[in-house]
Amino acid sequence: MTAETTKETIMTETSKDRVFIFDTTLRDGEQSPGATMTHAEKLEIAELLDDMGVDIIEAGFPIASEGDFRAVAEIAERSKSAVICGLARAQLPDIDRCWEAVKRAERPRIHTFIGTSPLHRAIPNLTQDEMAERIEQTVSHARNLCDNVQWSPMDATRTEWDYLRRVCEIAIKAGATTINIPDTVGYTAPRESAELIRRLIAEVPGGEDVIWATHCHNDLGMATANSLAAVEAGARQIECTINGLGERAGNTALEEVVMALRVRGDIMPYATDIDTRKIMQISRRVATVSGFPVQFNKAIVGKNAFAHESGIHQDGMLKNAETFEIMRPEDVGLAGTSLPLGKHSGRAALRAKLKDLGTEVGDNQLKDIFVRFKELADRKKEVFDDDILALVTATTDGDTNRLQLVNLKVVCGTGGPAEAVLEMEIDGQEYSATCTGDGPVDAAFKAVRQLHPNAARLQLYQVHAVTEGTDAQATVSVRLEEDGMIATGQSANTDTVVASVLAYIHALNRLLVRRGKTGSDVKEISYKDV
Ligand code: KIV
Ligand code: ZN
Repeated sequence: MTAETTKETIMTETSKDRVFIFDTTLRDGEQSPGATMTHAEKLEIAELLDDMGVDIIEAGFPIASEGDFRAVAEIAERSKSAVICGLARAQLPDIDRCWEAVKRAERPRIHTFIGTSPLHRAIPNLTQDEMAERIEQTVSHARNLCDNVQWSPMDATRTEWDYLRRVCEIAIKAGATTINIPDTVGYTAPRESAELIRRLIAEVPGGEDVIWATHCHNDLGMATANSLAAVEAGARQIECTINGLGERAGNTALEEVVMALRVRGDIMPYATDIDTRKIMQISRRVATVSGFPVQFNKAIVGKNAFAHESGIHQDGMLKNAETFEIMRPEDVGLAGTSLPLGKHSGRAALRAKLKDLGTEVGDNQLKDIFVRFKELADRKKEVFDDDILALVTATTDGDTNRLQLVNLKVVCGTGGPAEAVLEMEIDGQEYSATCTGDGPVDAAFKAVRQLHPNAARLQLYQVHAVTEGTDAQATVSVRLEEDGMIATGQSANTDTVVASVLAYIHALNRLLVRRGKTGSDVKEISYKDV
C-alpha cells in the first residue's frame, strides 16, 4: 500500500477544478444481466481505461465470486496510473476480501456501501441507529486497511435528508476520503441533484475535506444532466461507464460527460484527464465484449453521431463543418475519411490500417485477420474501416474452440420451410445434420442444437449491417443463458446466416469454458444482496 492516494494528493488536484473520472464499466456495467465479460476481456478493458486517463477504475466486486476476485486482483497488479477500486458491502469479510484483491495496486481504494433509504434499511431490518453503528464500524475497518476509502449511501436520493446528512458525517469521521451519492434508481433531476450535493458539502461537518462523488442511473434519461449538475454544485468525481453500460437504462455514459465538459468548457470550466481520442476504440471494445451494441443515434459514440444524411446538412457540412458539428470526429478517435482497402492490399497495409484505427494486434492475430480480410476482399470490392474492425471483433478471442463450423448450406425462400445442412467439428470429430426451420437462421440453429444438444436459452439475437450496400458484412451478437450462466458471442460475415451460426457457436464455446470453470465466473452474490 502506498500513501499516494491520500486526501492531500486528491485535494491538491481538486483545487484546479479537476473532475475525477471514476469508471465502473467493470463493476456496475458488468453487473448488468447479460454483460458478463471473460477474465481476459476485463483485463483488456481495464488497460484501455488506464491508458485513456481514467482516474479510478472500479474493477469489480471481489466477494461476488472467485472470478471477480481474480479479475480485480490481476487488474490491481497490472495497473499503471489509475486508482484501482473494489466494491464491498458493509460487512467485515467483504471489506477484507476487497482489500486482498486491490492491495497490490500502486493506488488501491476500498469502496464500501449500504442502502440508507427506508426501503433499503428494511431489507437487513436495521434501525437508523443500528445502521449508523454498522457504517461507523465498517468504514473504520476499511480505513485501517487502506488510506483511500470511498463510502456510498445506496439510494441516497430517496434517503431522508436528516439521516443522509447524519450518515455522511459518520462515514467522514470514520475515515472515508470520498463520499459518493448514488441515484441508484435514476430518480433525481438536475436541479435536485445539484441542490443535494450543495447542501451536503455545506452542512455535513468535515464535508469540505473529502471528495464528493455523483453516481447516476439513467432510468429517466437524465443521468448525464444529473451528473453535470452535481459537478456544478461541487461534486468532483463522476461515476460512469463506457457507452452508459449498466442495469436497466444504464449508468451515466463516460463519453457524454467527458465530451460535454470539453465542448462546453465555456460554461462548465472543469477539466478531466481523459484522452478523448481513445473514446471510440474503447466504446467499440466494450460493445463487443459485453454483447451490448451501441444504439445508432447514441450521443458521441453512435454510428450516426457524426453522420450527416440530409441534403441540407451535407451541403452545410461541405461548406463549413462547424455548421452542424460541435466537435470533430477526430476528437473522439474517429479517423477522418480514409481510403478503403481492396483485394490487392497487403499485410503491411492492413497492419498500418489497424494502427490508424487504434488497434494493436500480435503477429498471430494479424495472420488470422489477414486471412479473413482476403476472403472478404474477394467478395466485397471495397473493405472499409468498419469492416476491418468487424474482422478484429470476429478474431479476438482466447476462448477455446471445441465447436467449429466446417460447412453450411441453406435453402430458403418462398414455398416451404427453410432447410440447413450443417457440418461441424466437435472436439476434433466431424458431424453433420440437416434441419428445417422457420427461416434459414432457425433451421441452422436447430442443426447446431442437434449436433451439440444444450439447454441454453437464446436471450438476444441481433444483426447489424457494418456498412451500406447489399454486400455489407453483418455483425451478429448472440447472448445465451444456461443455469444462471451467461455467454455472448459475436461474428461478422457478408452472409448473415453464416455470421449468425458463427456467433451462436462462439457463445456456446464460451459456455463450455464457463461450465469447465465450475461456475467461477457466475455471480454468486449480487451487490444488492445486502
Ligand atoms: O447504484 C448504486 O447505488 C451503486 C452503489 C453500489 C454505489 O452502484
Ligand atoms: Zn449503480
